[in-house]
Amino acid sequence: ENAEYQAEFDARIDAGGFIEAKDWMPEAYRKTLVRQISQHAHSEIVGMLPEGNWITRAPSLKRKAILLAKVQDEGGHGLYLYAAAETLGVSRDELYEALLDGRAKYSSIFNYPTLTWADIGVIGWLVDGAAIMNQIPLCKCSYGPYSRAMVRICKEESFHQRQGYDLLLQMMQGTPEQREMVQDAVNRWWWPSIMMFGPHDKDSQHSETSMRWGIKRISNDDLRQKFVDATVKQAEVLGITLPDPDLKWNEARGHYDFGAIDWDEFWSTVNGHGQCNVDRIAARRKAWEEGAWVREAALEHARKQAVREKA
Ligand code: 3HC
Repeated sequence: ENAEYQAEFDARIDAGGFIEAKDWMPEAYRKTLVRQISQHAHSEIVGMLPEGNWITRAPSLKRKAILLAKVQDEGGHGLYLYAAAETLGVSRDELYEALLDGRAKYSSIFNYPTLTWADIGVIGWLVDGAAIMNQIPLCKCSYGPYSRAMVRICKEESFHQRQGYDLLLQMMQGTPEQREMVQDAVNRWWWPSIMMFGPHDKDSQHSETSMRWGIKRISNDDLRQKFVDATVKQAEVLGITLPDPDLKWNEARGHYDFGAIDWDEFWSTVNGHGQCNVDRIAARRKAWEEGAWVREAALEHARKQAVREKA
């Protein structure tokens, strides 16, 4: 009987159809979705921290309002994604526990420090730019709840990327110190941004099955290449140089060639030994513990309401 369900599942996936929460699905499909969606959600809420540092330090009210809106958006993206993961039969508490005790990952990029205001512009431009590249194909992911969450998230991401680029354009028309500040931030964020797309396809543990199941529509390397090709031109408009001497147009390939990625840095950051991993998890643990009373109060209120409604 499972063979029948499996055949129907395969046929729907092959036809580019969507699997919904109540549909039969192979346990391995469900498990890899819980892994990816929860880690995506963790990335969103850990991602609030680097930019959150600069809300009280923004140079103008306009920039403060924009940054506040962006950080709040990231929190909302986390909520959509935890809700999408819950449709697969896991609880938010167990997902959160996995983040706090290091069993679940979040995007490597958020383990780097935000040292100057220019970092805020570079994060919007490069990090959200890379996130858009990675998230657009996920709008067509075979798992319905995840793809629908992504449609909503992608609309907000374009605002995130534009505000970062606009911030940098403004700084590049400023003083030499401001221009140098932008170049310094780009030098620190360029390589970690292209690491966001994950290991090379040949070293990717999940790509084959994720592509077979229509979860991953474009490979890590193809998305990375797309991001590099699009970003080089934007860097030229900005007037900054990207910190890669091997970056150059390859007519034969129709793409930019670029230098070797430092995979030791990538894996040590992914495995908890990056510049800010300890701080980021400590901040998330503190928020979780200090927020316990809010969760208890909300649950108690809901319990009382349920009793009142029954009466
Ligand atoms: N950071 C941390 N871990 C990473 C990683 C990264 N940049 N790239 C890959 N990995 C991990 C994978 O999670 C996997 O480990 P696991 O088995 O413990 O989960 C391992 O490295 C092998 O990599 P694979 O390529 O085989 O894994 P995937 O098929 O899952 O591909 C991915 C990795 C492309 C990141 C995919 O998981 C994905 O598309 N995730 C959802 C989107 C996402 O998380 N984007 C990055 C966050 S951007 C953001 O948060 C929003 C924005 O507002 C800033």
